[in-house]
Amino acid sequence: MTFLFNSDASRGAIFQEAFAHELPDLPFSMDPGTVDPDAVRYLLTWTIPDDLRRYRNLEVLFSIGAGVDQFRIADVPDHVKVVRMIEEGIVRMMQEYVALAVLALHRNLPTYLAQQREQAWCPLPQIQAPERRVGVLGLGMLGRAVLERLAPFAFPLFGWSRSQQDINGVSCFAGEAGLKAMLARTDILICLLPLTGETHGFLSADLFNLLPRGAALVHTGRGPQLNQPDLIAALDDGRLSGAVIDVTDPEPLPAGHPFWSHPRILLTPHIASVTQPRTAARAVVDNIKRLRDGLDPIGLVDRGRGY
Ligand code: NDP
Ligand code: OXD
Repeated sequence: MTFLFNSDASRGAIFQEAFAHELPDLPFSMDPGTVDPDAVRYLLTWTIPDDLRRYRNLEVLFSIGAGVDQFRIADVPDHVKVVRMIEEGIVRMMQEYVALAVLALHRNLPTYLAQQREQAWCPLPQIQAPERRVGVLGLGMLGRAVLERLAPFAFPLFGWSRSQQDINGVSCFAGEAGLKAMLARTDILICLLPLTGETHGFLSADLFNLLPRGAALVHTGRGPQLNQPDLIAALDDGRLSGAVIDVTDPEPLPAGHPFWSHPRILLTPHIASVTQPRTAARAVVDNIKRLRDGLDPIGLVDRGRGY
């Protein structure tokens, strides 16, 4: 019975150390070339290797990230459990990034950066936080954590998900009618939805048109959720005032793409949140212990929903 780590060696070394300490009876390999494929019960990876089926006794496929959209789950044998990464490093980094993005939009940072380039000293009127409404699409591990981190700033907070949620200090909405109601009262919209058939292309002109004029977007979900031409059009005609974009389609963004130079876009290269090896190793070790105790792992993916 072997655990196969299929990612970068520096993170692998940290996992290996944690496994040696916590699960000394479980052989750990970082080398698909030399591992006995029949021995592999657990595989941790970002994408599914083409030769996945050679691991005939695989029981659990762990994603090294919080998302699993990079897996074509239909290609994973039905009996294999798919588990996403739930660890405190990812959560903390997403809280930091979204707080940074919301505050940058709230305090007009894109405009002041442009002013600095033009050597213009032009203070703008400043809306106060209690008048700036912030809405989050997706109330899972990350959406909830981000709302918690934003709470002390006094923004009115809103959230939307598939099923109705109840979060202290947040007005929660669900379903299509709930989406319209939330968007109508959202000045800064944050996307933290998983990429599924239902959320592909979700951030489009139809959605932007339901926001108050001059609203802004923070996109930290997945690139294919955003209709890029619709975003550019909405920014150019003033429907949206700005966007902070961390995920694109494709990644990396090609040279010359309009997002690189758009004055109302702040762009980062999918770094909002990155799996931290020490806390991630702890989370995977705990999950293997849960599996050994006959429990479901934390982060077990519902194949029907796709997240
Ligand atoms: P979770 O699975 O914990 O939560 C997903 C949330 O989205 C749930 O509230 C779910 O609703 C809601 N949802 C899913 N589909 C729909 C839908 N069709 N309509 C309405 N609501 C829906 O995910 P996480 O919070 O852990 O992560 C979210 C995503 O963030 C990841 O899938 C990944 O794509 C992205 N991510 C980006 C990173 C970056 O660096 N940019 C880093 C890490 C993750 P319900 O509660 O009803 O099930
Ligand atoms: C993730 C990511 O899914 O880094 O963890 O995007």
